[in-house]
Amino acid sequence: MSQAAHSLSWLPLRNHAADAKFPLMNEAPISLNLDAALAEAEANFVAKRPKTAALHDRAKAVMPGGNTRTVLYSAPFPIRIERAEGAILHDIDGHTYTDFVGEYSAGLYGHSNPLIAKAVADAMAFGVNIGAQHVREVVFAEEVCRRFHLDLVRFTNSGTEANMMAIAAARCHTRRKKVMAMHGGYHGGTLYFAHGASPVNAPFDVILARYNDIEATAELIEAEASDLACVILEPMLGGGGCIPASPEFLQMLRERTKHHGIVLIFDEVMTSRLAPGGYRSSTASNRT
Ligand SMILES: Cc1ncc(COP(=O)(O)O)c(C=O)c1O
Repeated sequence: MSQAAHSLSWLPLRNHAADAKFPLMNEAPISLNLDAALAEAEANFVAKRPKTAALHDRAKAVMPGGNTRTVLYSAPFPIRIERAEGAILHDIDGHTYTDFVGEYSAGLYGHSNPLIAKAVADAMAFGVNIGAQHVREVVFAEEVCRRFHLDLVRFTNSGTEANMMAIAAARCHTRRKKVMAMHGGYHGGTLYFAHGASPVNAPFDVILARYNDIEATAELIEAEASDLACVILEPMLGGGGCIPASPEFLQMLRERTKHHGIVLIFDEVMTSRLAPGGYRSSTASNRT
């Protein structure tokens, strides 16, 4: 952080009346020095969450970092939720929060939605872990194909697994090795390209392109075409700052990949919620 940023002042924003309802928003420190303000905010946060601190210590004994989903971690320890309804979360220390995260867009219907809870209960009553083909998967697959304009669908347990399978299928079918992804792209725990490639990434031979840079990406595709199995990207770069792709960039990718027989993979784990048929359906240039 630059010296100028360090010397920025904080305004005292405390609103004691709202303290109980919106604890995080009202823990703004009164110090004018940024480092001291941060230390003060952290001390306030810890002091108000003794049960959370104790449970975090227990969690650390059985999970690395006390956490099993990296994105939910924040120092010194994340809030720990007891229950949730609609847009409201309650933590184990008795604080209430308004949820603006919305499970990173997956929590579209709010927490504990009764219709969803009933559908899950009905499905469980039908049978748990059947280990055989059944009627409901056909009905579900038909609906997914109809809505997302797909020919065929294969269900997976996670977005990471779906992307790993899509890349593996592209490599098998094209008999080529390389994978093009975007700087800042996130396609799962083993496919993460925020600062180059993550050390725990799957060992694919990856080429990174710059999102929305039409000329440089087209040149890279031309240069690597004979070895390139697939290009994987989100139609909106979610983890990289929610940057929508320009229609021209997507059009170029569609044309270049089609021309060279490269598989174009749209990861819509996040953007499928942006339009009834996924984000891809909302831009005419991407319907192919
Ligand atoms: C764009 C994108 N791809 C893939 C994934 C990985 O999905 P999962 O966490 O289900 O493995 C995510 C998860 O947030 C995602 O946002």
